[in-house]
Amino acid sequence: MAEVLKAGPGLELRPLNLRDAPALFALVDANRDRLRRWLPWPDANQSPADSRTYILRMRTQVRAGVGQSFGLWWKGGLVGVAGFNWIDAANRSAAIGYWLAEAAEGRGLMTAAVAALLRHGFRTLKLNRIEIRAGVWNRRSRAIPKRLGFRHEGTLRQVEHLADRTVDHAVYGLLASEWRRR
Ligand SMILES: CC(C)(COP(=O)(O)OP(=O)(O)OC[C@H]1O[C@@H](n2cnc3c(N)ncnc32)[C@H](O)[C@@H]1OP(=O)(O)O)[C@@H](O)C(=O)NCCC(=O)NCCS
Repeated sequence: MAEVLKAGPGLELRPLNLRDAPALFALVDANRDRLRRWLPWPDANQSPADSRTYILRMRTQVRAGVGQSFGLWWKGGLVGVAGFNWIDAANRSAAIGYWLAEAAEGRGLMTAAVAALLRHGFRTLKLNRIEIRAGVWNRRSRAIPKRLGFRHEGTLRQVEHLADRTVDHAVYGLLASEWRRR
């Protein structure tokens, strides 16, 4: 089962619980317009029941070992979500995804959260490769793997349909051997 990950002073990644559904939905709803610029799912999340469904789906993924999603809690409040969008155990490979409420941006919180996910992924889950994909024009998202020493591996063309356009993804990868050397 996923555990609580310490990411810094007052900053924790906690497995999402069903009782978090109202707070999670409120956060998505308040940030809907900016999230839909870069993520495909906000338009399908229209009620706390949709957030419950998401949390239940994530639990199933954790049980199957194919994904892990955490609420990012800062000073006791939910400020975003981060986790492994998929885990490929056979190839010891996984992809990290994340989003943050606008009020929590610009403080390094997500960089610290992703650093905690890297420790969890490489040490506990024994992964060999972790990747992050970001829209090529998503400057804030791309800055996170760059800050954490990922290598830019290339571009996937027209790989994601968003609400109003189709975007290319920049792919960043970090190997366990590179992470240990840092
Ligand atoms: C992508 C996203 C999570 C990035 O948020 P962010 O706040 O820029 O990232 P961090 O929390 O790591 O903070 C980094 C910022 O804090 C600043 N900062 C302050 N203290 C810092 C510290 N100790 N360490 C690192 N950065 C710090 C950095 O300079 C940077 O600000 P800048 O871009 O103005 O230079 C956020 O913009 C978001 O949720 N966007 C919408 C959804 C999305 O795009 N998700 C990703 C899809 S691939």
